[in-house]
Amino acid sequence: MSQHPTVKLDFERHTPQEMHDQAEHLFDALRKRRTVRTFSSAPIPMDVVRRAIHTAGQSPSGANKQPWTFALITDPGVKAQIREAAEAEERSFYAGRASQEWLDDLAHLGTDANKPFLTEAPALIVVFAQSRAPDGGKHYYVKESVGIACGVLLAALHMCGLATLTHTPSPMGFLQELLERPDNERAYMIIPVGYPAEGTTVPDIDRKPLEDILVEFAPS
Ligand SMILES: Cc1cc2nc3c(=O)[nH]c(=O)nc-3n(C[C@H](O)[C@H](O)[C@H](O)COP(=O)(O)O)c2cc1C
Repeated sequence: MSQHPTVKLDFERHTPQEMHDQAEHLFDALRKRRTVRTFSSAPIPMDVVRRAIHTAGQSPSGANKQPWTFALITDPGVKAQIREAAEAEERSFYAGRASQEWLDDLAHLGTDANKPFLTEAPALIVVFAQSRAPDGGKHYYVKESVGIACGVLLAALHMCGLATLTHTPSPMGFLQELLERPDNERAYMIIPVGYPAEGTTVPDIDRKPLEDILVEFAPS
C-alpha cells in the first residue's frame, strides 16, 4: 500500500444519452471558437478571466509540477510596451527571418507586423513556462503541460463568451524582461482576450474531416 494520502475520486457517471448530448454540445460550441485579430476595447468581466485562468490551472502536468505562470495585463502602458516590442520582433520576422514557405503558409491569414490587438484588447494573458521550480527543483514535460493548460484556457474563455487570439511573436524573450519574470520562466504565448470588434471577419478555413485525423484499432 502507498504511504501517500489519497482522496476518493469525484467522478460523475452520465447516462449514454447525456454523454451523447454533451459531446454534441461541446462539438458545436468549440467548433465556433475562432482566432480573433480585431478586438473591441469594451471592458470585460475580469473575474471571469481570472476564473478561466484558475480553470487552466486545474490541467494535468508532468509530476503535477504545474509549470506555468499567467501574467494578466490590463495596464494600457504595459500593453503599449508589449505591442512596441512585439512589432519590432515581427518586423524582422516578416522582413527576413521567416522562410518563404512560412510566409506563404501565413498568407491566407492576412497577418503582418502590425499588432494593434495588443493594445486594443482589454486584457492580455502572457503565459510563461517554468523550465524549473523557483527553488531549482526539476520540472517534467513542461511544453506538453503548458500546451494543455493553454488549450484549457482558450476553451474556458470561449465557453464564457470571450474571444481570444493565440499570439506567438518570435522570439518572445522581451516579455520575460518587460514583465520582470524570473530566470526560470520563458514566455510561451500571448493571449489577447476581449469581445470581437464590430464586423470582425475571420479567414474562411476548413477543418480536416474525422477520418483524416483518427486512426482506430478496433476488434474486427
Ligand atoms: C501555437 C500557435 C501559435 C499561433 N501564433 C499566431 C500568431 O502569432 N499570430 C496569429 O495571428 N495567429 C496565430 N495563431 C493562430 C492560428 O493562425 C489559428 O489558430 C489557425 O489559423 C486556425 O484558425 P482558428 O484559430 O480561427 O480556428 C497561432 C496558433 C497556435 C496554435
